[in-house]
Amino acid sequence: MKTVVSGIRPTGNLHLGNYFGALKNFIKMQETERCFFFIADYHSLTTHPDPKLLGTNVRNVLTEYLAAGLDPEKSTIFIQSDQPEVAELSLLLSMHAYIGELERTASFKDKMRKQPENVNAGLLTYPILMAADILIHRPDLVPVGKDQEQHLEMTRKYARRFNSIYGVDFFPEPAAYNFGTELVKIPGLDGSGKMGKSEGNGIYLADTDEQIRKKVMRATTDSGPTEMNSVVSEPVENIFTLMNIVSEKSAVESFRTDYANCSIRYGDLKKQLSEDIIKSVAPIRERILEIKGNEKYLRDVTEFGAQKARESARETIKQVREIMGLRKI
Ligand code: TYM
Repeated sequence: MKTVVSGIRPTGNLHLGNYFGALKNFIKMQETERCFFFIADYHSLTTHPDPKLLGTNVRNVLTEYLAAGLDPEKSTIFIQSDQPEVAELSLLLSMHAYIGELERTASFKDKMRKQPENVNAGLLTYPILMAADILIHRPDLVPVGKDQEQHLEMTRKYARRFNSIYGVDFFPEPAAYNFGTELVKIPGLDGSGKMGKSEGNGIYLADTDEQIRKKVMRATTDSGPTEMNSVVSEPVENIFTLMNIVSEKSAVESFRTDYANCSIRYGDLKKQLSEDIIKSVAPIRERILEIKGNEKYLRDVTEFGAQKARESARETIKQVREIMGLRKI
């Protein structure tokens, strides 16, 4: 049985990128593997969220995790700050993480550009905390989208470095994972780039059918192919990428053929895409409404999850302390 760890920042509702990029893999994996899934509330503090809103966001993400199919009986579902051992591991790992390599991280450089007024130390050390999140359960696999690839590389680097400095074979080198073999990047429908919370182009699991239709109908396209077998432009390719995930193969092929022979009608393409997104998302939305507001259930899930997570985390911390020489007198 493999050990699996993954997480998400509670900065809003879950979108199709979170679901198809990562969550769907977790849900399959919990059937056979030892899985830890958490809500990264410590990480979200780097953007200074309103304390009142943070709790609501954590509750929303948890509700949506459960509605999408994560099962607290099969996997350990918890809130990051309910497992404070991770903060200690992050501190210990930081002793072997170098400023230069942290400054070169793409996500740090991106944040420096996006929030120059708030380049805090937590942003710089974000990859160390993320490595601690992962390594604390010593997993084999981390299901994530393509945007997290560099963080996973750093996690492996810190694991390797720790093992080599202390002459142990303690931390594994976990691999980023997707069932489709390649990590995926779910695109936005606004022309280029990924679907994301900060990009403001999300289609959310909690969206109504009408909201989904509106968002898809607004998707950027181009003026249409004018030559047979021409290369598909990026915004239209993005529509096909999403269709590859939610639609029948035959439907995608038929629109591809229409594109190649210049008879494609983007209105029909979008209609097909929006109906297929609705088909995959509507059952989740219904469960969101069922679970929402069931405070006792949500509390029970996180208390149960925290207990299981801490058991595993404490064991790792005990051994790391021992290896690093923090021994009891
Ligand atoms: P976050 O909160 O931005 O996203 C959560 C998960 O959703 C995936 N994802 C996507 N996948 C494909 N296409 C997209 N457009 C897309 N948008 C988001 C992300 O890859 C991620 O798997 N740093 C992490 C949270 C984190 C974490 C961890 C993840 C903290 N500690 C430990 C794994 C293990 C983040 O910001 O993800």
